Amino acid sequence: MLVEKNVALQAFNTFHIVAKAHTLVRIASYQDLLAVLADPDLGPEPKFVLGGGSNIVLTGDVKPVVLKVEISGRRLVGETAKAYVVECGAGENWHEFVRWTLEQGYPGLENMAMIPGTVGASPVQNIGAYGVELQDRFESLDAVDLSTGREFTLNAAQCAFGYRDSVFKHASAGAPGKAETAVRHALGLKDRALILRVRFALPKAWKPVLGYADIEKKMAEHQCTRPTARQLFDWVCEIRHAKLPDPARIGNAGSFFKNPTVTSEQCADIIARDPRVVHYRMDDGSVKLAAGWLIDSCGWKGKSVGQAGVYEKQALVLVNRGAGSDGNGATGGEVMTLARAIQTSVYERFGILLEHEPVVV
Ligand code: EPU
Repeated sequence: MLVEKNVALQAFNTFHIVAKAHTLVRIASYQDLLAVLADPDLGPEPKFVLGGGSNIVLTGDVKPVVLKVEISGRRLVGETAKAYVVECGAGENWHEFVRWTLEQGYPGLENMAMIPGTVGASPVQNIGAYGVELQDRFESLDAVDLSTGREFTLNAAQCAFGYRDSVFKHASAGAPGKAETAVRHALGLKDRALILRVRFALPKAWKPVLGYADIEKKMAEHQCTRPTARQLFDWVCEIRHAKLPDPARIGNAGSFFKNPTVTSEQCADIIARDPRVVHYRMDDGSVKLAAGWLIDSCGWKGKSVGQAGVYEKQALVLVNRGAGSDGNGATGGEVMTLARAIQTSVYERFGILLEHEPVVV
């Protein structure tokens, strides 16, 4: 086990924020993790699990022991009547895994191409794009309890997936608020588990998931009514290239806020304030609002606080305008000051409190 001290984290978070880990250990296997947990110095210390660093805002040096997940491997592990079951190590890059599944002839993840981050982080956030969420393709995962070292397996129900949400985002005391939510997260696993590998059920009777405006536009452009998985993969890559900043060039953490859900009455009230509000009616009668539109209409596109800014082409994305390696980029404090200013102005105008997606460390 190699224990690294004072490790620069700038290259390990997609916002490219400058911060250090007091202690960092790379975890390439279950055995590596057991060694950390059995270590007399590291074992009792609090831990922070780091995947691709694509959904975090670092607001200072990280004091808990950083466990950088580098577990690799991807393979077909089984088959049911309806699906191929494919397993992937938590440290594998998500996009490369999606590409590999297509090359192997197991389509189903193509709408989620190019989402930054690792496979291990994908269930934590229940990542999603263009009409497909991770939970639609999830089979099960193996994880380790960081307090006991015990390995356990969770199915989809046990992961308690929600919109950009899972059991891994909630503390065990249960979230305050709705009783149902509190029960669902009574066994919350936030900071308590490290995901080793994830299994996906990829449908044998594959059908393209269409319906999103951006995808429909591509179909019209290419005069294609039934795209292949590979075409969808390529289109999603093109759409994301055009709309979202490439984290290798401009630091960011994808959508910074969740799209808020409101009641039909609240939506009517917002439409009365501005009839142009972009909204989608959900099957359960609630309405999802486009947070990007709310932020954009408050005039935030292109604005900055220090080196933290609102992306010019998509107001839902906050970016680091700093040069990167010179250490002059945005601080986590600047990012969060900008985020709070956006929350305040959207709240004052529309009465909606936006919830941020990334984890603030
Ligand atoms: N809009 C504006 N101004 C903006 C941004 C958006 O008016 O500055 C409007 C757009 O015109 C569009 C609507 O808002 O009508 C929705 O925008 P878009 O289609 O870009 O999708 P989104 O709601 O902003 C969500 C996910 C993305 C995912 C896309 C496609 C969330 C928080 N974001 O974005 O996920 O890729 O849909 O499915 O749910 C992520 O989570 O990091 C992420 C990028």
